[in-house]
Amino acid sequence: MTTPEKINIGIIGNGGREHAFAWKISQSVLLNKLFILPGNGGTELLGTNIPVDALDFESIALICLDNDIRLLVVGPEAPLVEGIVDFFASKPELAQISVVGPNKAGAMLEGSKDFSKQFMLRNGIPTARAQTFDAMNAADVDGWLNELSAPYVVKADGLAAGKGVVICETKEGAVDEIHAMIYDGKFATAGAKVVVEEFLEGIEVSVFALSDGRSYVLLPEAKDYKRIGEGETGPNTGGMGAVSPVSFFDKAFETKVIQNIIEPTFQNLKKEGIVYQGFMFFGLINVSGDPYVIEYNARMGDPETEAVLPRIESDLVPLFLSLKNQTLHQFDLKVSSQTATTIVGVAEGYPGIYRKGDEIQLLQTENSGLLFHAGTARNSNGNLLTNGGRVMAFTGMGSNIGEALQQAKSKSESVLWQGKYQRGDIGEDLINLHV
Ligand code: AMP
Ligand code: GLY
Repeated sequence: MTTPEKINIGIIGNGGREHAFAWKISQSVLLNKLFILPGNGGTELLGTNIPVDALDFESIALICLDNDIRLLVVGPEAPLVEGIVDFFASKPELAQISVVGPNKAGAMLEGSKDFSKQFMLRNGIPTARAQTFDAMNAADVDGWLNELSAPYVVKADGLAAGKGVVICETKEGAVDEIHAMIYDGKFATAGAKVVVEEFLEGIEVSVFALSDGRSYVLLPEAKDYKRIGEGETGPNTGGMGAVSPVSFFDKAFETKVIQNIIEPTFQNLKKEGIVYQGFMFFGLINVSGDPYVIEYNARMGDPETEAVLPRIESDLVPLFLSLKNQTLHQFDLKVSSQTATTIVGVAEGYPGIYRKGDEIQLLQTENSGLLFHAGTARNSNGNLLTNGGRVMAFTGMGSNIGEALQQAKSKSESVLWQGKYQRGDIGEDLINLHV
């Protein structure tokens, strides 16, 4: 057998998700050198961080050419929605580089809530009933709200840094929110169009697939903990923790998810002429045993990735490289039966105005959990500082949630910064859940 060629690989992004990708890819037999654009205080331990804006495609292309990067994994949604894949495909000198992520048309499933809602409705994919409003038909909002009952879900159409979904308890509140988005520029152009939908009651689960446009592999599912306070209280965050696997995601539920959601999504993308090559994140809700789509994302979740990747035993790089030639069907994913839990440590004040620049102390203790940096950076003296709201993600593994949590918590205890906060109840709802 010939030894496979080792290649240089790049990752775009600077969060815990990207550190987890860097950690996973750094174990690949196919890796030569790893570059993270721009990366964080953790990724620099695994490869070379190169500062660049994720939307500066010209500079990213130059970095790829200068460093002979053959595979580029796109972490966050913004460059995908802005068309980084189409940009690379349009330049002959970049054609040899495989980019993991959908093209602009595919990323519209995340970039426009109206586009994704219409896609689901015309293809019979279960989702909340909804109507879309803009300045032309805002007068009809009242009639639509009368058909729904409280609470009402109001969604800015475009990307709004995870803040564009507002749950309104009253009809008046919903009308105010819709007007603020359409007329007062809340969320700027992202809010010029608004999707107003019924509220679905249930437990959410994040399901992930990697697709080459022809076939797909399913990744482990995860549960995300979105709110800042214990017991899911207080303002929304980027995600305070994750658990994988999810107990109610049993065979029967998985079968429904595959038949009612995943298959029709990929089949209809194909039918509509969209070759989707990258990760798809199905944000689902379990309503009395039936899955509905809350949202699609064109990328992996954060912090779900920090719990999902540690459970994947297969080398992901061969799968990534198969996307371009649509040979993903040749691969199976080996997944550990262990449970992974991730606890996110955040800066004081997050998700509001938060402290930055606090020194981070890493204690030398005996623990076997995983540490993924998110908002960290090193200063010119080499000291590690907080540099974002979500500072670090601590992942533990075990034969059940309790064991995994113990490891995640002990990892967390080895890292200190002033004002550090984390939720103490990640995973507890699943321990207590009997369905
Ligand atoms: P985001 O991740 O910012 O899009 O936030 C969306 C969150 O809002 C979801 O994770 C749900 O918790 C909630 N959400 C969105 N749509 C609905 C819906 N139709 N019914 C109930 N909750 C929803
Ligand atoms: N954790 C949710 C997301 O990445 O959107």
